[in-house]
Amino acid sequence: MGWALVTGGTSGIGLAFVRALAAEGHDLVIVARDEARLAKVAEAARTQYKVAVETVSADLAVRADVDRIASRLDDTDSPIDLCVNNAGFGLHANLLDDDTALQERAMMVMGTDVLLLSNAAARAMVARGSGTIINVASASAWIYTGNYSAIKRWVVSYTQALAIDLEGTSVQATAVCPGWVKTAFHERAGGERPHIPGWLWIKADDVATTALRDAARGVVVSVPSLKWRIGLWVAQHGPQSVPLAVSRAVTGSRRGEGGVSHVPPPVDKVTSETSDPASPTLSAADSPDDAPGSAV
Ligand SMILES: NC(=O)c1ccc[n+]([C@@H]2O[C@H](COP(=O)([O-])OP(=O)(O)OC[C@H]3O[C@@H](n4cnc5c(N)ncnc54)[C@H](OP(=O)(O)O)[C@@H]3O)[C@@H](O)[C@H]2O)c1
Repeated sequence: MGWALVTGGTSGIGLAFVRALAAEGHDLVIVARDEARLAKVAEAARTQYKVAVETVSADLAVRADVDRIASRLDDTDSPIDLCVNNAGFGLHANLLDDDTALQERAMMVMGTDVLLLSNAAARAMVARGSGTIINVASASAWIYTGNYSAIKRWVVSYTQALAIDLEGTSVQATAVCPGWVKTAFHERAGGERPHIPGWLWIKADDVATTALRDAARGVVVSVPSLKWRIGLWVAQHGPQSVPLAVSRAVTGSRRGEGGVSHVPPPVDKVTSETSDPASPTLSAADSPDDAPGSAV
């Protein structure tokens, strides 16, 4: 197994990718901002899976940091075979807010970076004749909940176009579109998880394993779980009044929260249900599906 790079690999869905890839025997490059958490996740992966782990502390809202990751993707000494562009954060900011700084930051971390890092990965992988790029989008791509939906729609569309440009190269591009996943994401975005029926939530580990399986099979748009595949089929092929109604309901519930316009706090600061963020483990059994920020 070769090297895999995961942005946002210290929490939630990214951490689940790290867990799944380490279990497959991949050596890992893990990217996030929080150095202490990076070190704990790396140590857990080395100890539990005997894989090599590099950590890169980088703020993906800063172009110079993104360029460092792009250079790592271009490295031919220990080439990256699989790149997961996953880092991101919830964005409940109102589109009429006069301060657009958070919106711009989101477009960089979840949009421009996907372009830059996919581009670097794709060129290096095509030159070597193989590789996989996984871009984490969202089921939100098919509704209209602020700029977050717009960015994630772009990620899906971009990845579909990339897959066409990669045809005949043996390099795979896959966009992943999860519904609601129990991670630190929701509390970091707005202090509370949305009041969603329990059966609609899916597990981060299921997102990662489904995405890796779909990418290996050549699937370009991966939607984890049957219930969300049905939901997205209805959103795309049913009457447009359905996604519009869902969008109004979700946006309205966020207005009730008063909206959020801050840079999300560190994972370890959203602690209400966290099992033990200070002691990361790569074992899924130690990461209850409702434990935001539980480490690997
Ligand atoms: N949870 C859901 O319901 C859901 C549903 C659909 C799609 N998604 C998408 O899944 C992805 C992962 O979300 P999650 O739920 O796993 O959230 P999470 O638990 O909050 O994890 C986010 C990860 O991204 C990293 N990150 C955030 N901002 C960063 C930045 N500026 N630079 C570098 N790293 C950064 C975080 O580490 P640091 O804070 O240390 O940097 C952390 O490792 C996101 O793209 C999100 O949009 C989530």
